[in-house]
Amino acid sequence: MAAIRTENLTKNFRQIRAVQGLDLTVDTGEVFGYLGPNGAGKTTTIRLLLDFLRPTAGTATVLGGAPADPAVRRRIGFLPADLSVDPRYTTRDLLDFYGALRGGHDPAWVDALLQRFDLDPNRRFGELSTGNRRKLGLIQAFAHRPELLLLDEPTSGLDPLLQAEFARLIREMTSFGATIFLSSHVLPEVEELAGRVGILRQGELIKVATVEDLRAEARARLELRLAEPALEGVFDGVPGVVEARTEGSTIHLVVEGSMDPVIKRAATLPVVRLITHEADLEEVFLSYYAGDGNAR
Ligand SMILES: Nc1ncnc2c1ncn2[C@@H]1O[C@H](COP(=O)(O)OP(=O)(O)O)[C@@H](O)[C@H]1O
Ligand SMILES: [Mg+2]
Repeated sequence: MAAIRTENLTKNFRQIRAVQGLDLTVDTGEVFGYLGPNGAGKTTTIRLLLDFLRPTAGTATVLGGAPADPAVRRRIGFLPADLSVDPRYTTRDLLDFYGALRGGHDPAWVDALLQRFDLDPNRRFGELSTGNRRKLGLIQAFAHRPELLLLDEPTSGLDPLLQAEFARLIREMTSFGATIFLSSHVLPEVEELAGRVGILRQGELIKVATVEDLRAEARARLELRLAEPALEGVFDGVPGVVEARTEGSTIHLVVEGSMDPVIKRAATLPVVRLITHEADLEEVFLSYYAGDGNAR
């Protein structure tokens, strides 16, 4: 069963088409990265999935039920992009409050989360730094061990140590079968965690792919150092070579798709060293953002 399924899900704010005809399926147990630049419609989508907003058209099903069903909502954890609560409450007050709404938290699990994220529960919300507010947001989202987590830009404002802890927590939750839906406007935040990503632009889902497939689309860069000066044009006509530049005894290559033909041609040369550079996934990702209206 899908954890999230939307059909033609659409939300307009007067003339603004925030989400347009969204057809999306997120399977149970997967980590799905929901990517798009600011204003693309990520938060609106999440709010629709939580019944904070009603769609203009289309439907959403979460955990097999309607977003408006309180029994369904109790099984969801939500991290808002911007947690805003009464500044006088302490972290402990807020966690107790959320716990009461949800029919009780497991206190040992909540304490473990506070420790893992190194958050003092006795501080008032008004005294918390942005980073600490972020931690509280995460802890309350995970506190009732939800089956589905909707996390809106979860790692923005977290330092690297906490990002690593966050990643561990995500893996832990999915190992128990939870489904994670996380939005972001930058790819590096989700590429290590997500199996699949959807790319949203101006309210439209323009691409759904596995991170692996995106990597395959990325161009790889390599350098061949030869034992003798390189000849111009040795890589002419080799499939996948989009750029070949010779510099003394070094050949710089940019390759798209399979490396096989390149390796076979390189085998005919006196290669001393082969240096490869990680495929630039961010480049692929940005090409989908490009504002010319032509999605690939
Ligand atoms: N409550 C609202 N009223 C009017 N316009 C809104 C509202 N919420 C969002 N929008 C607009 O809808 C579009 C999508 O916004 P949003 O979902 O917040 O994008 P993202 O989260 O990807 O940055 C934007 O153009 C935004 O200005
Ligand atoms: Mg947003």
